[in-house]
Amino acid sequence: MCAAPCPARKNRLLTDPLPFSDLSAAVGRAAWRLQPGLTYLNHGSFGPSPRPVLEARQALTAELEANPMDFYLRRMEPALAETAERLGRFLGTSGENLCLVDNATVGMNMVANGFPLAAGDEVLANDHEYGAVLRIWRRRCARSGAGLVVQPLPERLQSPDEIVDTLLAAATSKTRLIVVSHITSPTAVILPVGQICRRARARGIAVCIDGPHAPAAVDVALDRLDCDFYTASCHKWLSAPFGSGFVYAPPLNRRQLEPVVVSWGGSLGGRPPDWRDEYIWSGTRDLAAWLAVPAAIDFIEQVGVRAFRDHAHRLARYARQKISALTGLEPLVPDSPDWYGVMISLPLPDCVGPPIEGHLHPLQKYLWEQHQIEIPVVNWRGRRWIRTSCHLYNHAGEIDRLTEALGEWLAAARAGGT
Ligand SMILES: Cc1ncc(COP(=O)(O)O)c(C=O)c1O
Repeated sequence: MCAAPCPARKNRLLTDPLPFSDLSAAVGRAAWRLQPGLTYLNHGSFGPSPRPVLEARQALTAELEANPMDFYLRRMEPALAETAERLGRFLGTSGENLCLVDNATVGMNMVANGFPLAAGDEVLANDHEYGAVLRIWRRRCARSGAGLVVQPLPERLQSPDEIVDTLLAAATSKTRLIVVSHITSPTAVILPVGQICRRARARGIAVCIDGPHAPAAVDVALDRLDCDFYTASCHKWLSAPFGSGFVYAPPLNRRQLEPVVVSWGGSLGGRPPDWRDEYIWSGTRDLAAWLAVPAAIDFIEQVGVRAFRDHAHRLARYARQKISALTGLEPLVPDSPDWYGVMISLPLPDCVGPPIEGHLHPLQKYLWEQHQIEIPVVNWRGRRWIRTSCHLYNHAGEIDRLTEALGEWLAAARAGGT
């Protein structure tokens, strides 16, 4: 069953006591509408909204229902501008540079649809990128005769310079664009995107940052970052409603975007044209998710962005210590908030084999079905990884529950019983 022996439990990484803040008790679970009994450790994929955000969204939908003409013709456009302004203040840019979209996927498709690529050009990515993003660019490159180069990053990540050097070593005179995550999906690593932007700019290469894990989790200062495009979802760490995200595009880059859905391309309310008209209105629908983004920013700022990150990082660190002790496998990155923040992805031993195609991994299934723990088990570089996301509603007891259940499953796998 195990290709390599599964190590016995070790506690050597559990060195210091972990003083958890009482933040999760103060603004924890009661602020969310999570199912009773559920241990939710996947805010990084699908981040539920706290009650004030749900209420804001419901109030906006009620407003739409009360008079749709008034909402779409008079209320919507100023409200969208205010939302972009508020989001811009949170992200270190002007609202003018932000276009609201449903999610990072739509944003990345807007860039892929419009970015100029000719036969022989190259787009450079790395092997920690999100599968759907690689798929978007593979398809786009194939259609234009360009090539997608996926550069493997070093085996262990210990130096930002080494990451940047390794990535840029794969850039050639044909490279037109670098697509890179701010925080990676399978490995939950914070990448040195500022350095990547500076080095790429010096070589005349554009950069599109795939940033859905960053807003609220780490500081995002878009203008200072000086990237060409930044795409993100707000329904992850910011806890805005599902279906809210943005594309950042400074003025010179906006003509390199194309809509995913073509509609009127003009103002419904009769105001002067705006570069976002082409993207905002993709036909009639409820825009409450976008317009409730300011409520999510209010919520996290009232809690304190620092307090949130501290709480979540301590929990992620605790998970790192406990899971590494259980598996005996070294984490991918050093133990520092410079490398991982509110979520941590850890390698699992070889006895955790691949899933059967078309099925969730049996370990993920077991954790949910036997323990009501929602957590992703992902495949990356031929190994299974478990990614623990921590938010305000999580607490140390849930990490204990996870590691206990994981320990039981690994013991059964070692004995050949899974
Ligand atoms: C790095 C990364 N990019 C893009 C996405 C896509 O985000 P969404 O599904 O919100 O469009 C995800 C989703 O988890 C992600 O982790």
